[in-house]
Amino acid sequence: MGADKDYITLQKHRTMTAKQLELGQIFTPSDVAYFMVKLFVSELERGSTILDPCIGGNIFLDTLSSIASNFGFEGVEIDSELLVEDIRKSYKSPQKNLFEGDFFELPYEKKFDFAILNPPYIRQEKISNKDKIFAQLTNSQLKVSKKSNLFVYFILKTINHLNKNGKFIAIIYDSWLYSDFGISFRRILASEGCVEEIYHFREAVFPDALVGATVIVFSKKKQTQKTKYFQYQKFQNINLDAEPEHINLETFNFNRPTIHPNEDLFVPMNEICDQTITRGIGTPHNRSFYQLPSKEIESIRIIKDVKKIIGMKVESCNLEKVLHVTDFANTNQTTKNYLEEILSKLGELPNTKTLENLIHQNKKWHKLKISPPGNVLFNYYLRKKIRFISNLDFHPASNNFYQMKITENFHAQLAILNSSFTISSIEKAAKPQGNGLKKIQLNKFREVRVLDASRISETSRVSLSSLGGKLVDANPKSINNIRKKIDDIIESVIKPEP
Ligand SMILES: C[S@@+](CC[C@H](N)C(=O)[O-])C[C@H]1O[C@@H](n2cnc3c(N)ncnc32)[C@H](O)[C@@H]1O
Repeated sequence: MGADKDYITLQKHRTMTAKQLELGQIFTPSDVAYFMVKLFVSELERGSTILDPCIGGNIFLDTLSSIASNFGFEGVEIDSELLVEDIRKSYKSPQKNLFEGDFFELPYEKKFDFAILNPPYIRQEKISNKDKIFAQLTNSQLKVSKKSNLFVYFILKTINHLNKNGKFIAIIYDSWLYSDFGISFRRILASEGCVEEIYHFREAVFPDALVGATVIVFSKKKQTQKTKYFQYQKFQNINLDAEPEHINLETFNFNRPTIHPNEDLFVPMNEICDQTITRGIGTPHNRSFYQLPSKEIESIRIIKDVKKIIGMKVESCNLEKVLHVTDFANTNQTTKNYLEEILSKLGELPNTKTLENLIHQNKKWHKLKISPPGNVLFNYYLRKKIRFISNLDFHPASNNFYQMKITENFHAQLAILNSSFTISSIEKAAKPQGNGLKKIQLNKFREVRVLDASRISETSRVSLSSLGGKLVDANPKSINNIRKKIDDIIESVIKPEP
């Protein structure tokens, strides 16, 4: 589960505790909470009741209370540690109720006119009473895919708690628009009522998450109206008067590629390279390949751990030794002894399944399959720091990297690759892995359309080339500044002044 491991690394960086991770405690920024509250506050009548099935820091009740009064509110939260004195106090006032516990234990008899929620985005193996949730839905035969994330069950149970014609406003990652489980989820939403509006923010709304988010307005009213689909690059653009598209939620294809202005300056990523983009070298995840007890043992040095690369270039100190013996008969005695020792101790070593398979299938298990190295590397698990790393010495890389060989306009092209523009195209083509992490498949990566440095004006190319050169040697603190300058040039290339 590489993706999960990477996600945990990402979260470690944010110093989230295991409990925070397990309960999906990513809180709604206050401006986003305000936007969500405004979507229904004008519909509140005296005594309207509202549910928040997972209050966290109580942002929704706090925001509502600052602009409305005379409403009933039920807040649910499983983590008592979050329920600080101020929060408990706000539920002591009339018509407010705090249910301290699991939302899936909230009695179904409790009904509300509205719900507002930011449900936890986590795996859902733990829910025990799924069948009951479905039994309460009007069309109880419809089931969501087993892969569905917990937020899906939160939303379905929330629908159970809505009065006829009730409404919920929810913020969730945008993965449901693209993923397989999203298809069944969309179908259920459409059969239980109507998604009236979707506000889609393509860039991260939640701090440190890489994926986009959607705010959805659902009404438990049987109606056949189309969904108003609003798209924004960032949440900060929300005030722009965007015109929605009117879409059929069940059939709409959210994966449409973006058409750039000046499209003729763009080519697929693979075309800026001299050789087809490949994945790096596959090495067994086994410490016998890496923890070599003697310098004599035949090996090669490869770049394996992206976290070791602090700036924008591979340095020899980033490399790690990995066992690689091309010809057993002609290798030195120390290497022979070591290989024989691995074979004899196979049963005793931990995690040897892959290695055992490899040995079983391949006599030359100690010889790595070397793919042609590249002078640019890209780690395809998209973390916070998405970057194209220069590898001018063509060091071999492991298979968590895509390797590119770029000879024409190297520095200008490297600058283009590291622009926000290219990074955002990559993020759009990547697939969510759950928990806010994304991964881009090799075939999708090769197809991402990028600005071709040889098609732009000489002046822009020279400026980009100089910035690309600076980027390679930049210290981490100056990278963002250089990127901004690159972005400005690219902006002017793509959208020339009228
Ligand atoms: C994504 S956070 C959102 C919190 C808050 N509503 C906000 O918007 O900032 C989800 C919250 O759900 C809580 N939670 C997780 N599982 C729960 C469950 N089964 N029942 C109730 N609350 C739960 C977590 O502790 C966390 O506070």
